[in-house]
Amino acid sequence: MSINVALDGPSGAGKSTIAKAAAQKLKYLYVDTGAMYRAVALYVLSCGKKTDNAQEVISALKNIEISLIHTDEGQRIILNGEDVSDKIRTPEISMAASQVSSIPETREFLLSLQKNLARENNVIMDGRDIGTVVLPDAQVKIFLTASCEERAKRRYKELVERGENVVYDDILRDIEQRDYNDIHREIAPLKKAEDAVEIDTTGICFEKAVSKVIWTIKDSVAKFSRREIPAVRPVKKGNKTPLWKRIAHEFLRLVAKAIYHIYLDLHFEGLENVPKDGSNIFASNHRSYTDPILISLKPKVMFSFMAKEELFKKNIFFTAVIKIFGAFPVARGKGGAEAVDMSLERLNKGYNLVIFPEGTRSRDGRVLKGKTGVALVAAMAQVPVIPVGIVFEGNIKFRRKVTVRFGKPIIPKEIGVDDCSSKKLRILRNEIMASITELVEENVNKL
Ligand code: DC
Repeated sequence: MSINVALDGPSGAGKSTIAKAAAQKLKYLYVDTGAMYRAVALYVLSCGKKTDNAQEVISALKNIEISLIHTDEGQRIILNGEDVSDKIRTPEISMAASQVSSIPETREFLLSLQKNLARENNVIMDGRDIGTVVLPDAQVKIFLTASCEERAKRRYKELVERGENVVYDDILRDIEQRDYNDIHREIAPLKKAEDAVEIDTTGICFEKAVSKVIWTIKDSVAKFSRREIPAVRPVKKGNKTPLWKRIAHEFLRLVAKAIYHIYLDLHFEGLENVPKDGSNIFASNHRSYTDPILISLKPKVMFSFMAKEELFKKNIFFTAVIKIFGAFPVARGKGGAEAVDMSLERLNKGYNLVIFPEGTRSRDGRVLKGKTGVALVAAMAQVPVIPVGIVFEGNIKFRRKVTVRFGKPIIPKEIGVDDCSSKKLRILRNEIMASITELVEENVNKL
């Protein structure tokens, strides 16, 4: 699950510079939603239309395409293919952006872009309504403020440094006017979310403000993950897949077995450790795309495994084969809740589930550090985990020696893992990875 930080507050409170610095430190994506409103305003004005005329703005929206790109110099905003990051930073655009942002259709237009960015990334998103409207479920909400005078002083300094000819009183008036617009508009007004932490930056230096924001984020994320210990949902064993599916799967298994035995010099060890029934997790090291099939050749139970979404777009034949062998797609970066739900559903139906805790294929056969996802599914479902070691020997293509070793089942409860707290998940993960390493090690040492 991605971490979302909603950072709201009035213009000039330092949101964007502070958010940018915090995002860089935490390696989160920084999303400046104000820049999106500014880009809309720029487009409307460049068409000779008025930003305070709702109809004119609405009719312009259909011709607008906005995207954010991330470069070494930071976030750039692209409007219909043109980088407008610099053009949108003028007092005229500031006022026009405030006007277009009070039109519901403009907000609706930008909402899905904003939500999508947050769904796919850990983000710090700054704006006015992020904690209240755009990301109401954000794990962290911060409301950043500063007095009007302080904000005007900062804006004045920034513009003078850029060589603009500006008057302090005009800027102060602009800020007060924009605050008024943003607070009093009917739709998504600037408002502190009830659960937001307020940080006032009046009189504190930039570094201190950044560190306050970072600590607020770290604290809230820690609290959130402590709150969110997933409940155990034990799987009831028993085969619930239709007979025809089992027959089709069995037939394909036999065909695959014949092909694999011709193509590879295939060996199985530890078959006595493989349960006769389903609803088990097979946690294996990962060497090749065929690993799930290798594991499912012997046990006479239907298998299922998660595979990255891209594999389903490779070619029709490959997609058909992996689907028959029980693959289900998991989008990158969405390995969390969605993948866990799908895994539990498969286990509940009686499938055995293959998981590769390393998350990626190992190049030299050494077992990599495992992720805790496998432990989470096993602890939630309270099912046995059968460690598997796959060992490829030599480099020949045809009749290469491959050994699939099954280790002793690990029963979560037997090693004290009866809930999903992170401490227990780490215990289970370590136990699983140690067993896999043991199964592979003998051969790795010979490499
Ligand atoms: O943060 P900024 O000054 O770049 O924002 C420009 C304008 O866009 C500002 O007047 C308020 C508006 N805005 C908004 O209504 N909602 C957001 N999420 C972000 C900005």
